[in-house]
Amino acid sequence: MKTSAKARDSFKSNLGVILALIGSAIGLGNLWRFPYLVGTNGGAAFIVIYLLCIVFLCMPIMVCEFVIGRRSQANAFRAFEKLRPNSAWKHTGLLAVITCVILLSFYVVVGGWTIDYFVKSLRMVFTPQTDYEGVFNSMVSSSAENIFYTVLFLAVSAAVILGGVRKGIERTNKYLMSALAILIVFIVVYSMTLPGAKAGLNFLFKPDFSKVTFRVALNALGQGFLSLSIGCGAIMTYASYASKKDNLLKTTTVTTISDTLFALLAGMAILPAVFSAGMNPGEGAGLAFISLPYVFAGMPFGKLLSILFYFILFAAALSSAISLLETIVAFLKEESNTERHRAVLLSFAVIVVFAVLCALSFGVLSGFKIFGLTFFDFFDYISSNICLAIGALLISVFAGWKISKEDFYDEITSGGKYKIPKWLLGTLRVFVRYIAPLVVAIIIINSLIGV
Ligand code: PHE
Repeated sequence: MKTSAKARDSFKSNLGVILALIGSAIGLGNLWRFPYLVGTNGGAAFIVIYLLCIVFLCMPIMVCEFVIGRRSQANAFRAFEKLRPNSAWKHTGLLAVITCVILLSFYVVVGGWTIDYFVKSLRMVFTPQTDYEGVFNSMVSSSAENIFYTVLFLAVSAAVILGGVRKGIERTNKYLMSALAILIVFIVVYSMTLPGAKAGLNFLFKPDFSKVTFRVALNALGQGFLSLSIGCGAIMTYASYASKKDNLLKTTTVTTISDTLFALLAGMAILPAVFSAGMNPGEGAGLAFISLPYVFAGMPFGKLLSILFYFILFAAALSSAISLLETIVAFLKEESNTERHRAVLLSFAVIVVFAVLCALSFGVLSGFKIFGLTFFDFFDYISSNICLAIGALLISVFAGWKISKEDFYDEITSGGKYKIPKWLLGTLRVFVRYIAPLVVAIIIINSLIGV
């Protein structure tokens, strides 16, 4: 085995682990996907389904990732090999690392846009008269501008990872998450005071059970995986740096609640402002980079808000990108038994190539299509819609069927340190063995046949 004999990196405190996990979870998924998804999928009705998916499917799978990571104390690839030597399961770990490469390659492009818009906000270039669609299109189609900010964002992520687990990841997340918590509450309070804010809250919370279909449930579960960073080994990698003394169930529960709360707060910050400006909310780039700057420009203190908002977007994207990059770096570092800085450099070199392809898919490569999608859209689609779900399925099957009941309970209770009711452990095991794999398999088949 090639794993380095040197002591492995680790987090300093349980709070550090929790903040890093929250950092990974809170990302673009919360800020630009969740609010719109809720509004168009039945409001409070969607939230109820989302919460059910989170509690009964996503959380048990997150627990599995944590169990695999902490028990093996290894990177995502080695983790499977350590717990089930000489089996085909190591390919699951490999798939997880590849998923991170694909996901990170388009994520850093959007991360670059957040820096670009943050800088534009600081330079105060936005006015109510600005042609926002024009500004956005010219940014993404300009190869130089798009590539510059993409590489800058990736370089910032790499710089954090270079600092190691404690000085880089743990410390950065501590600052970023504290800033995010304060700023989002500030914007929610401000948003609520705007005239017409109620329409935004109605869009978000008014239940419409007639909209609830099978497809809506699929959307909810897919969003749960993406938002909680499940299925690509990121949780596993962070868990491998966690102490055996940490309470696993508490750590995963706090992470889940924080991520969900943040998603709701993001909706309460964004939608009232959008409706107050008399606009319709959209999804993704259209919402964050076209509607919102326009909305901010027409508001009192709009310039300040715009600076704060793009900082939030940047911080959320950065803390997620860090977890994706660390999963890749940990794999390279331990599997080729090399120093951290070399692994970071190598990951940087690989991601830069794919990221540039994604960045150029709005400009010179816009005509280049894979299955009818540009590089950017293709990477987004296969990673968010297919790879994460397949990863989640394999992870729950592995934890449910290949880790013995005794070992599974031993890891969750930290060797009996934490007294967890038997019924809870038993129920969790049933979900992990039967219910989660079954439901997730149905989801995957559905997205593959495109129902
Ligand atoms: N959870 C992140 C978001 O909501 C995305 C992500 C997925 C990050 C998987 C890491 C791993 O945007």
